[in-house]
Amino acid sequence: MLAIAVLASILGGVASTPLPSSGSPLATDLNPYPTKPRITFKEDGTFKLTVFSDLHFGENPWDSWGPEHDQSSVKLMNTILGDEKPDYAVINGDLITGENTFKENATTLIDQIVAPFINANVPFSTTQGNHDNQPNITHEEEILREQSLTELSYTRMAPPGVGGDHGPGNYWVPVYRNAYDQSPVLILWFFDSRGGWKTSTEFVPDWVDASVAGWIQSETQSMESAWGPASQRGAVAFVHIPPDIAKPLQDNLDSTKSPGDNEDVLGDGSTQNPNDSTFWDALNLNVPNLHAVISGHDHGNNWCARDTNKNVVFCFNKHSGYGGYTRGWAHGVRNLLFTSPDPTAGVKTWIREEDGTVKASITLDSNYV
Ligand SMILES: *[C@@H]1O[C@H](CO)[C@@H](O)[C@H](O)[C@H]1NC(C)=O
Ligand SMILES: *[C@@H]1O[C@H](CO)[C@@H](O)[C@H](O)[C@H]1NC(C)=O
Ligand SMILES: *[C@@H]1O[C@H](CO)[C@@H](O)[C@H](O)[C@H]1NC(C)=O
Repeated sequence: MLAIAVLASILGGVASTPLPSSGSPLATDLNPYPTKPRITFKEDGTFKLTVFSDLHFGENPWDSWGPEHDQSSVKLMNTILGDEKPDYAVINGDLITGENTFKENATTLIDQIVAPFINANVPFSTTQGNHDNQPNITHEEEILREQSLTELSYTRMAPPGVGGDHGPGNYWVPVYRNAYDQSPVLILWFFDSRGGWKTSTEFVPDWVDASVAGWIQSETQSMESAWGPASQRGAVAFVHIPPDIAKPLQDNLDSTKSPGDNEDVLGDGSTQNPNDSTFWDALNLNVPNLHAVISGHDHGNNWCARDTNKNVVFCFNKHSGYGGYTRGWAHGVRNLLFTSPDPTAGVKTWIREEDGTVKASITLDSNYV
Protein backbone atom coordinates (compact mmCIF):
# COMPACT_ATOMS: atom_id res chain seq x y z
CA MET A 1 0.00 0.00 0.00
CA LEU A 2 2.89 2.32 0.83
CA ALA A 3 4.45 1.49 -2.53
CA ILE A 4 1.17 2.31 -4.24
CA ALA A 5 0.87 5.63 -2.42
CA VAL A 6 4.45 6.54 -3.31
CA LEU A 7 3.90 5.55 -6.91
CA ALA A 8 0.68 7.56 -7.06
CA SER A 9 2.43 10.63 -5.71
CA ILE A 10 5.28 10.24 -8.18
CA LEU A 11 2.73 10.03 -10.96
CA GLY A 12 1.10 13.17 -9.63
CA GLY A 13 -2.19 11.33 -9.40
CA VAL A 14 -4.61 10.79 -6.57
CA ALA A 15 -1.95 10.39 -3.88
CA SER A 16 -4.12 10.87 -0.83
CA THR A 17 -7.09 8.83 -2.03
CA PRO A 18 -6.96 5.14 -1.06
CA LEU A 19 -7.58 2.78 -3.96
CA PRO A 20 -11.12 1.38 -3.84
CA SER A 21 -11.38 -2.41 -4.02
CA SER A 22 -13.81 -2.21 -6.93
CA GLY A 23 -16.30 0.05 -8.66
CA SER A 24 -15.86 3.82 -8.71
CA PRO A 25 -13.49 4.64 -11.53
CA LEU A 26 -10.40 6.60 -10.53
CA ALA A 27 -8.68 9.01 -12.85
CA THR A 28 -6.16 6.17 -13.19
CA ASP A 29 -8.78 4.12 -15.06
CA LEU A 30 -8.42 6.29 -18.15
CA ASN A 31 -9.07 3.69 -20.84
CA PRO A 32 -11.50 4.54 -23.64
CA TYR A 33 -11.71 0.86 -24.63
CA PRO A 34 -12.63 -1.03 -21.43
CA THR A 35 -14.17 -3.91 -23.42
CA LYS A 36 -11.49 -4.28 -26.09
CA PRO A 37 -8.06 -5.90 -26.02
CA ARG A 38 -5.30 -3.38 -25.34
CA ILE A 39 -3.08 -2.49 -28.28
CA THR A 40 0.47 -3.41 -27.26
CA PHE A 41 4.07 -3.44 -28.41
CA LYS A 42 5.43 -6.87 -29.31
CA GLU A 43 7.49 -8.81 -26.77
CA ASP A 44 10.68 -7.77 -28.64
CA GLY A 45 9.83 -4.12 -27.89
CA THR A 46 8.72 -3.09 -31.39
CA PHE A 47 5.38 -1.87 -32.71
CA LYS A 48 4.51 -1.81 -36.42
CA LEU A 49 1.83 0.35 -37.91
CA THR A 50 0.66 0.22 -41.53
CA VAL A 51 -1.12 3.25 -42.99
CA PHE A 52 -3.53 2.96 -45.92
CA SER A 53 -5.09 6.06 -47.39
CA ASP A 54 -7.34 7.42 -50.10
CA LEU A 55 -9.06 4.15 -51.00
CA HIS A 56 -11.92 5.98 -52.79
CA PHE A 57 -14.35 3.08 -52.88
CA GLY A 58 -17.65 3.37 -54.75
CA GLU A 59 -16.62 5.26 -57.87
CA ASN A 60 -18.96 5.01 -60.85
CA PRO A 61 -21.13 2.16 -59.50
CA TRP A 62 -23.18 2.38 -62.73
CA ASP A 63 -20.06 1.39 -64.72
CA SER A 64 -17.72 -1.61 -64.52
CA TRP A 65 -14.40 0.15 -63.84
CA GLY A 66 -15.43 1.53 -60.42
CA PRO A 67 -16.39 -1.84 -58.89
CA GLU A 68 -13.28 -3.40 -60.52
CA HIS A 69 -11.09 -0.76 -58.86
CA ASP A 70 -12.68 -1.63 -55.51
CA GLN A 71 -11.85 -5.31 -56.01
CA SER A 72 -8.24 -4.34 -56.80
CA SER A 73 -8.11 -2.24 -53.62
CA VAL A 74 -9.44 -5.17 -51.55
CA LYS A 75 -6.76 -7.42 -53.09
CA LEU A 76 -4.06 -4.84 -52.26
CA MET A 77 -5.23 -4.64 -48.65
CA ASN A 78 -5.28 -8.44 -48.30
CA THR A 79 -1.78 -8.75 -49.80
CA ILE A 80 -0.23 -5.99 -47.72
CA LEU A 81 -1.85 -6.99 -44.41
CA GLY A 82 -0.76 -10.60 -45.04
CA ASP A 83 2.84 -9.60 -45.80
CA GLU A 84 3.36 -6.82 -43.29
CA LYS A 85 1.46 -8.34 -40.35
CA PRO A 86 1.19 -4.95 -38.62
CA ASP A 87 0.29 -4.62 -34.96
CA TYR A 88 -2.19 -1.89 -35.94
CA ALA A 89 -3.44 -0.35 -39.17
CA VAL A 90 -4.88 3.04 -40.08
CA ILE A 91 -6.96 4.18 -43.03
CA ASN A 92 -6.21 7.88 -43.26
CA GLY A 93 -9.27 9.29 -45.00
CA ASP A 94 -11.21 9.28 -48.27
CA LEU A 95 -12.48 5.77 -47.78
CA ILE A 96 -15.36 6.45 -50.15
CA THR A 97 -15.86 8.75 -53.13
CA GLY A 98 -19.11 10.05 -51.68
CA GLU A 99 -20.07 12.03 -54.79
CA ASN A 100 -20.88 8.75 -56.54
CA THR A 101 -22.82 7.01 -53.77
CA PHE A 102 -26.53 6.39 -53.30
CA LYS A 103 -28.22 7.65 -50.16
CA GLU A 104 -29.83 4.31 -49.34
CA ASN A 105 -26.70 2.13 -49.43
CA ALA A 106 -23.60 4.35 -49.28
CA THR A 107 -22.33 2.91 -46.00
CA THR A 108 -22.41 -0.67 -47.31
CA LEU A 109 -19.11 0.19 -49.03
CA ILE A 110 -17.61 0.26 -45.52
CA ASP A 111 -18.36 -3.48 -45.27
CA GLN A 112 -16.04 -4.14 -48.22
CA ILE A 113 -13.37 -1.84 -46.77
CA VAL A 114 -13.19 -3.47 -43.32
CA ALA A 115 -13.31 -7.08 -44.60
CA PRO A 116 -9.52 -7.36 -45.15
CA PHE A 117 -8.85 -6.22 -41.54
CA ILE A 118 -11.33 -8.80 -40.24
CA ASN A 119 -9.74 -11.54 -42.41
CA ALA A 120 -6.25 -10.63 -41.18
CA ASN A 121 -7.45 -10.02 -37.59
CA VAL A 122 -5.65 -6.66 -37.46
CA PRO A 123 -7.00 -3.92 -35.16
CA PHE A 124 -7.41 -0.63 -36.99
CA SER A 125 -9.05 2.75 -37.03
CA THR A 126 -9.85 5.44 -39.56
CA THR A 127 -9.92 9.14 -40.23
CA GLN A 128 -12.40 10.51 -42.74
CA GLY A 129 -11.68 12.85 -45.63
CA ASN A 130 -13.38 15.48 -47.75
CA HIS A 131 -14.83 12.80 -50.08
CA ASP A 132 -16.42 11.10 -47.05
CA ASN A 133 -18.63 14.18 -46.48
CA GLN A 134 -21.02 14.48 -49.41
CA PRO A 135 -24.80 14.94 -49.74
CA ASN A 136 -25.27 11.12 -49.66
CA ILE A 137 -22.72 10.24 -46.92
CA THR A 138 -21.19 11.77 -43.78
CA HIS A 139 -18.21 11.04 -41.55
CA GLU A 140 -20.57 10.13 -38.73
CA GLU A 141 -22.49 7.61 -40.85
CA GLU A 142 -19.25 5.94 -41.95
CA ILE A 143 -17.94 5.74 -38.38
CA LEU A 144 -21.19 4.26 -37.00
CA ARG A 145 -21.24 1.66 -39.76
CA GLU A 146 -17.59 0.73 -39.16
CA GLN A 147 -18.13 0.42 -35.40
CA SER A 148 -21.17 -1.83 -35.97
CA LEU A 149 -19.23 -4.25 -38.17
CA THR A 150 -16.24 -5.30 -36.09
CA GLU A 151 -14.71 -5.16 -32.63
CA LEU A 152 -11.35 -4.67 -34.40
CA SER A 153 -12.35 -1.05 -35.08
CA TYR A 154 -10.95 1.42 -32.53
CA THR A 155 -12.46 4.44 -34.29
CA ARG A 156 -14.36 6.78 -31.96
CA MET A 157 -16.05 10.19 -32.06
CA ALA A 158 -15.29 13.17 -29.87
CA PRO A 159 -18.03 14.39 -27.51
CA PRO A 160 -20.76 16.55 -29.13
CA GLY A 161 -19.56 20.11 -29.66
CA VAL A 162 -15.98 19.05 -30.43
CA GLY A 163 -14.86 19.02 -34.07
CA GLY A 164 -17.41 21.37 -35.60
CA ASP A 165 -20.24 20.52 -37.96
CA HIS A 166 -19.45 17.35 -40.00
CA GLY A 167 -16.16 16.76 -38.14
CA PRO A 168 -16.81 14.19 -35.37
CA GLY A 169 -13.74 11.97 -35.90
CA ASN A 170 -11.38 13.23 -33.18
CA TYR A 171 -10.06 10.58 -30.76
CA TRP A 172 -6.95 8.84 -29.47
CA VAL A 173 -5.85 5.24 -29.03
CA PRO A 174 -3.44 4.20 -26.24
CA VAL A 175 -0.66 1.69 -27.01
CA TYR A 176 0.87 -0.16 -24.04
CA ARG A 177 4.22 -1.86 -23.55
CA ASN A 178 2.43 -4.86 -21.98
CA ALA A 179 -1.27 -5.68 -21.81
CA TYR A 180 -1.30 -5.48 -17.99
CA ASP A 181 0.37 -2.02 -17.78
CA GLN A 182 -1.57 0.82 -16.22
CA SER A 183 -0.09 3.53 -18.47
CA PRO A 184 0.46 3.54 -22.23
CA VAL A 185 3.83 4.40 -23.80
CA LEU A 186 2.42 5.69 -27.10
CA ILE A 187 -0.71 7.62 -28.05
CA LEU A 188 -2.11 7.50 -31.59
CA TRP A 189 -4.04 10.72 -32.23
CA PHE A 190 -6.69 11.06 -34.96
CA PHE A 191 -8.16 14.35 -36.15
CA ASP A 192 -11.03 15.24 -38.46
CA SER A 193 -10.07 17.81 -41.12
CA ARG A 194 -13.68 17.83 -42.42
CA GLY A 195 -14.14 19.23 -45.96
CA GLY A 196 -16.54 18.07 -48.66
CA TRP A 197 -20.15 19.11 -49.16
CA LYS A 198 -23.20 19.17 -46.91
CA THR A 199 -25.60 19.74 -49.78
CA SER A 200 -24.97 20.37 -53.47
CA THR A 201 -24.48 24.08 -52.72
CA GLU A 202 -23.08 24.17 -49.17
CA PHE A 203 -19.50 23.11 -48.49
CA VAL A 204 -17.96 22.00 -45.18
CA PRO A 205 -14.86 23.94 -43.96
CA ASP A 206 -11.69 21.97 -44.74
CA TRP A 207 -9.61 22.38 -41.60
CA VAL A 208 -9.66 20.90 -38.09
CA ASP A 209 -12.14 22.97 -36.12
CA ALA A 210 -10.79 25.31 -33.42
CA SER A 211 -12.93 23.49 -30.80
CA VAL A 212 -10.51 20.55 -31.09
CA ALA A 213 -7.80 22.67 -29.43
CA GLY A 214 -9.61 22.82 -26.06
CA TRP A 215 -10.41 19.12 -26.29
CA ILE A 216 -6.71 18.27 -26.86
CA GLN A 217 -5.87 20.33 -23.79
CA SER A 218 -8.45 18.64 -21.57
CA GLU A 219 -7.63 15.13 -22.84
CA THR A 220 -3.91 15.63 -22.26
CA GLN A 221 -4.66 16.98 -18.76
CA SER A 222 -6.67 13.81 -17.99
CA MET A 223 -3.77 11.72 -19.29
CA GLU A 224 -1.30 13.56 -17.06
CA SER A 225 -3.42 13.09 -13.95
CA ALA A 226 -3.99 9.40 -14.72
CA TRP A 227 -0.56 8.42 -16.01
CA GLY A 228 1.96 11.12 -15.14
CA PRO A 229 3.89 13.63 -17.27
CA ALA A 230 3.30 13.68 -21.02
CA SER A 231 7.05 13.32 -21.58
CA GLN A 232 6.68 9.63 -20.59
CA ARG A 233 4.66 8.93 -23.73
CA GLY A 234 5.38 9.03 -27.45
CA ALA A 235 2.79 10.16 -30.00
CA VAL A 236 1.92 10.14 -33.68
CA ALA A 237 -1.00 11.97 -35.31
CA PHE A 238 -3.18 11.26 -38.34
CA VAL A 239 -5.32 13.80 -40.18
CA HIS A 240 -6.56 13.41 -43.75
CA ILE A 241 -5.92 16.90 -45.15
CA PRO A 242 -2.33 18.07 -44.50
CA PRO A 243 -1.85 20.93 -42.04
CA ASP A 244 -1.24 24.35 -43.55
CA ILE A 245 2.50 24.14 -42.72
CA ALA A 246 2.95 21.45 -45.43
CA LYS A 247 2.94 24.18 -48.12
CA PRO A 248 6.11 26.01 -47.03
CA LEU A 249 7.77 22.63 -46.41
CA GLN A 250 7.31 21.76 -50.07
CA ASP A 251 8.92 25.06 -51.11
CA ASN A 252 12.17 24.04 -49.38
CA LEU A 253 12.18 20.30 -49.98
CA ASP A 254 15.58 18.56 -50.11
CA SER A 255 15.25 15.25 -51.96
CA THR A 256 18.01 13.53 -49.93
CA LYS A 257 16.38 14.27 -46.59
CA SER A 258 12.86 13.95 -48.00
CA PRO A 259 12.94 11.00 -50.40
CA GLY A 260 9.68 9.95 -52.02
CA ASP A 261 7.34 11.23 -54.69
CA ASN A 262 6.68 14.96 -54.88
CA GLU A 263 4.32 15.19 -57.82
CA ASP A 264 1.42 17.24 -56.49
CA VAL A 265 2.10 20.95 -56.14
CA LEU A 266 0.36 22.12 -52.97
CA GLY A 267 -2.08 24.89 -53.80
CA ASP A 268 -5.47 26.01 -52.49
CA GLY A 269 -7.39 22.98 -51.23
CA SER A 270 -4.32 20.71 -51.14
CA THR A 271 -3.80 21.50 -47.48
CA GLN A 272 -5.81 22.98 -44.64
CA ASN A 273 -5.44 26.75 -44.42
CA PRO A 274 -4.29 29.19 -41.73
CA ASN A 275 -7.58 28.55 -39.91
CA ASP A 276 -6.01 25.30 -38.66
CA SER A 277 -3.58 27.22 -36.43
CA THR A 278 -5.69 27.00 -33.24
CA PHE A 279 -5.68 23.21 -33.55
CA TRP A 280 -2.06 23.08 -34.71
CA ASP A 281 -0.77 25.20 -31.84
CA ALA A 282 -2.68 23.15 -29.25
CA LEU A 283 -1.41 19.85 -30.67
CA ASN A 284 2.22 20.95 -30.62
CA LEU A 285 1.95 22.65 -27.23
CA ASN A 286 0.30 19.74 -25.40
CA VAL A 287 1.71 16.64 -27.10
CA PRO A 288 5.48 16.18 -26.68
CA ASN A 289 7.47 13.37 -28.35
CA LEU A 290 5.22 13.77 -31.41
CA HIS A 291 7.12 11.62 -33.92
CA ALA A 292 5.11 12.69 -36.96
CA VAL A 293 1.86 14.13 -38.26
CA ILE A 294 0.69 12.04 -41.23
CA SER A 295 -1.76 13.00 -43.99
CA GLY A 296 -3.13 11.76 -47.30
CA HIS A 297 -5.28 13.80 -49.71
CA ASP A 298 -2.52 14.62 -52.25
CA HIS A 299 -2.08 11.27 -54.01
CA GLY A 300 1.15 12.18 -55.79
CA ASN A 301 3.19 12.99 -52.67
CA ASN A 302 4.78 10.65 -50.14
CA TRP A 303 7.69 12.60 -48.63
CA CYS A 304 8.38 13.58 -45.01
CA ALA A 305 10.01 16.82 -43.85
CA ARG A 306 10.60 18.58 -40.55
CA ASP A 307 8.80 21.84 -39.81
CA THR A 308 11.43 23.80 -37.89
CA ASN A 309 8.88 26.27 -36.54
CA LYS A 310 7.22 23.68 -34.26
CA ASN A 311 10.07 21.17 -34.64
CA VAL A 312 7.66 18.47 -35.80
CA VAL A 313 7.87 16.07 -38.76
CA PHE A 314 5.11 16.03 -41.34
CA CYS A 315 4.72 12.96 -43.64
CA PHE A 316 2.46 12.17 -46.53
CA ASN A 317 0.86 8.73 -46.80
CA LYS A 318 1.07 6.66 -49.94
CA HIS A 319 -2.05 6.53 -52.14
CA SER A 320 -3.40 3.00 -51.56
CA GLY A 321 -6.69 2.83 -53.44
CA TYR A 322 -7.33 2.10 -57.08
CA GLY A 323 -10.03 4.75 -56.79
CA GLY A 324 -9.22 8.45 -56.77
CA TYR A 325 -7.12 10.53 -59.12
CA THR A 326 -3.79 9.14 -60.26
CA ARG A 327 -1.15 9.81 -62.86
CA GLY A 328 -0.03 6.19 -63.04
CA TRP A 329 1.63 6.01 -59.61
CA ALA A 330 2.07 2.61 -57.94
CA HIS A 331 -0.30 1.88 -55.04
CA GLY A 332 0.97 1.14 -51.56
CA VAL A 333 1.18 2.10 -47.90
CA ARG A 334 3.39 3.94 -45.43
CA ASN A 335 4.79 1.74 -42.64
CA LEU A 336 5.96 3.01 -39.26
CA LEU A 337 8.16 0.85 -37.05
CA PHE A 338 8.55 1.97 -33.44
CA THR A 339 11.85 0.31 -32.53
CA SER A 340 11.49 0.67 -28.76
CA PRO A 341 8.83 1.59 -26.19
CA ASP A 342 11.15 4.47 -25.18
CA PRO A 343 8.99 7.50 -26.13
CA THR A 344 11.98 9.37 -27.55
CA ALA A 345 13.47 6.49 -29.59
CA GLY A 346 13.64 6.94 -33.37
CA VAL A 347 10.82 5.64 -35.56
CA LYS A 348 11.59 4.01 -38.91
CA THR A 349 9.24 4.78 -41.76
CA TRP A 350 9.11 3.74 -45.41
CA ILE A 351 6.80 3.34 -48.38
CA ARG A 352 5.86 -0.20 -49.37
CA GLU A 353 4.34 -0.61 -52.80
CA GLU A 354 1.85 -3.36 -53.63
CA ASP A 355 4.50 -5.59 -55.27
CA GLY A 356 6.72 -5.39 -52.17
CA THR A 357 9.07 -2.64 -53.41
CA VAL A 358 10.42 -0.57 -50.52
CA LYS A 359 11.10 3.14 -51.05
CA ALA A 360 11.86 6.35 -49.19
CA SER A 361 13.16 4.74 -45.96
CA ILE A 362 14.11 7.20 -43.23
CA THR A 363 14.41 7.23 -39.45
CA LEU A 364 12.53 9.93 -37.60
CA ASP A 365 14.71 10.93 -34.66
CA SER A 366 16.48 14.03 -33.40
CA ASN A 367 19.04 13.70 -36.23
CA TYR A 368 16.32 13.92 -38.86
CA VAL A 369 16.23 17.49 -40.14
C1 LIG B 1 -27.78 10.37 -53.88
O1 LIG B 1 -28.72 9.32 -53.65
C2 LIG B 1 -29.93 9.45 -54.39
C3 LIG B 1 -30.82 8.30 -53.97
O2 LIG B 1 -30.21 7.07 -54.26
C4 LIG B 1 -29.63 9.46 -55.90
O3 LIG B 1 -30.82 9.64 -56.61
C5 LIG B 1 -28.63 10.56 -56.21
O4 LIG B 1 -28.25 10.48 -57.57
C6 LIG B 1 -27.38 10.38 -55.35
N1 LIG B 1 -26.31 11.32 -55.65
C7 LIG B 1 -26.32 12.63 -55.35
C8 LIG B 1 -25.10 13.40 -55.68
O5 LIG B 1 -27.26 13.16 -54.83
C1 LIG C 1 -26.73 0.84 -54.27
O1 LIG C 1 -27.99 1.00 -54.86
C2 LIG C 1 -27.94 1.31 -56.25
C3 LIG C 1 -29.35 1.58 -56.76
O2 LIG C 1 -30.17 2.11 -55.78
C4 LIG C 1 -27.30 0.17 -57.00
O3 LIG C 1 -27.20 0.47 -58.38
C5 LIG C 1 -25.92 -0.08 -56.45
O4 LIG C 1 -25.33 -1.20 -57.04
C6 LIG C 1 -25.96 -0.30 -54.94
N1 LIG C 1 -24.63 -0.32 -54.43
C7 LIG C 1 -24.22 -1.09 -53.44
C8 LIG C 1 -22.79 -0.95 -53.01
O5 LIG C 1 -24.95 -1.90 -52.91
C1 LIG D 1 -11.15 30.95 -42.19
O1 LIG D 1 -12.38 30.92 -41.50
C2 LIG D 1 -13.18 32.05 -41.69
C3 LIG D 1 -14.40 31.95 -40.77
O2 LIG D 1 -14.87 30.63 -40.71
C4 LIG D 1 -13.55 32.19 -43.16
O3 LIG D 1 -14.32 33.35 -43.36
C5 LIG D 1 -12.27 32.26 -43.98
O4 LIG D 1 -12.61 32.26 -45.37
C6 LIG D 1 -11.40 31.07 -43.68
N1 LIG D 1 -10.14 31.20 -44.38
C7 LIG D 1 -9.83 30.45 -45.40
C8 LIG D 1 -8.48 30.71 -46.01
O5 LIG D 1 -10.56 29.57 -45.82
